[in-house]
Amino acid sequence: MQQEILKVGVLGSGKGTNLQSIIDNVTTGRIPARITCVISDVEDAFILERARKHGIEAIYIPPGKYKTRLDKETEEKYIKCLKDHGVGLVVLAGFMRMLKEDFINTFPNRIINIHPSILPAFRGLEAWKQALEYGVKYTGCTVHFVELGMDTGPIILQAVVEVKNDDTPETLHQRIQIEEHRIYPETIRLIAEGRLEIRGRKVIARY
Ligand code: GAR
Repeated sequence: MQQEILKVGVLGSGKGTNLQSIIDNVTTGRIPARITCVISDVEDAFILERARKHGIEAIYIPPGKYKTRLDKETEEKYIKCLKDHGVGLVVLAGFMRMLKEDFINTFPNRIINIHPSILPAFRGLEAWKQALEYGVKYTGCTVHFVELGMDTGPIILQAVVEVKNDDTPETLHQRIQIEEHRIYPETIRLIAEGRLEIRGRKVIARY
């Protein structure tokens, strides 16, 4: 019996370069999955434009009254939209709001996030800036499963980026993003091929 292809829903608030890297890898067949919707909390976010250009349904759902999370009613709209699109994996690609219990419990171990630091260092906003200000010599990016805490879930893949003496926040973030565009599609491929196993805090990949 042929297995049903993994349906992916992407949530983002910004320019969507990570979405682009995922689209590119789906298009070449490297990721055996289909992106069925892209949802944003920002009406004019370029991530929606990218989705439309590739014939993917792009949906703006107004975020409601809070700045850093979705209110209960709004969260229900996001969940319904993802379910209506048959989503089996929720991919946060620069989605700048915290998800709450109902959302996380609806997709157990089926929500992933990319964060621009080597977690657990520099959680939260503009992690590349935090790294630069702290003076670390190496930083990078992390893909992890999402749980209730901020940037705390089991780690799937990480990539290291060297900090240069003359780096600005922009140059450092640019080099981190090159690695993001490599490890995020790779993670989705591993999930789509059923190669990840979660053992407590550890995620084991079978190649
Ligand atoms: C990425 O660098 C991602 O790691 C970061 O937002 C950027 C989105 O870029 N996410 C976070 O900081 C989440 N805490 P993109 O819109 O070009 O994919």
